[in-house]
Amino acid sequence: MRKKMLWLCGLLMVAAPAAMAADGGGKANYDKLCVSCHGADGKGNPAMAKVFGEKELNIATKETAAKKDDELLKVITEGRGKMPASGAKTLSKEDQKALVGHVRSLGK
Ligand code: HEC
Repeated sequence: MRKKMLWLCGLLMVAAPAAMAADGGGKANYDKLCVSCHGADGKGNPAMAKVFGEKELNIATKETAAKKDDELLKVITEGRGKMPASGAKTLSKEDQKALVGHVRSLGK
C-alpha cells in the first residue's frame, strides 16, 4: 500500500498531466459519479453538503486517505450513512480500485 502511494506521488510529480489518463480511469469515473457531491478536488460541494445537512462533504482529507482500501470500497459501492451507493457498484473491480486510488490521491 505504501509502495502504491509512493508510486502515485512520483507519478503526479513527474507527469501530472499524463497521470490524469494513466490512473486507470479513476478520475474519469470520479468525475462522472462523485463530483456532484464531493467536488472535483474532493473538498465537497457546499450546496450538496447543505442538502445533506452536513458541515461539508470533504473527502480530500488525510483521514480519508488513511482508510483501508476495503473500507473506502465499501462506502463507494454500498454507500454509508447519508451517502447513497453511488453507481460504482457497476464498475469492474479494476475500475473500483482506480477510483479508490483517485480518492486517496485527493487527500494528500
Ligand atoms: C449524493 C451525494 C454523494 C455522492 C454522489 C457521492 N457521495 Fe460520497 N459521501 C456523501 C455523504 C453524505 C457522505 C458522508 C457519509 C456518512 O455520513 O457516513 C459521503 C462519504 C464518502 C466517503 C467517506 C469518507 C470517510 O472519510 O469516511 C468517501 C470515501 C466517499 N464519500 C467517496 C465517494 C465517491 C468515490 C463517490 C463516487 C463514486 C461518492 N462518494 C459519491 C455523499 C455523496
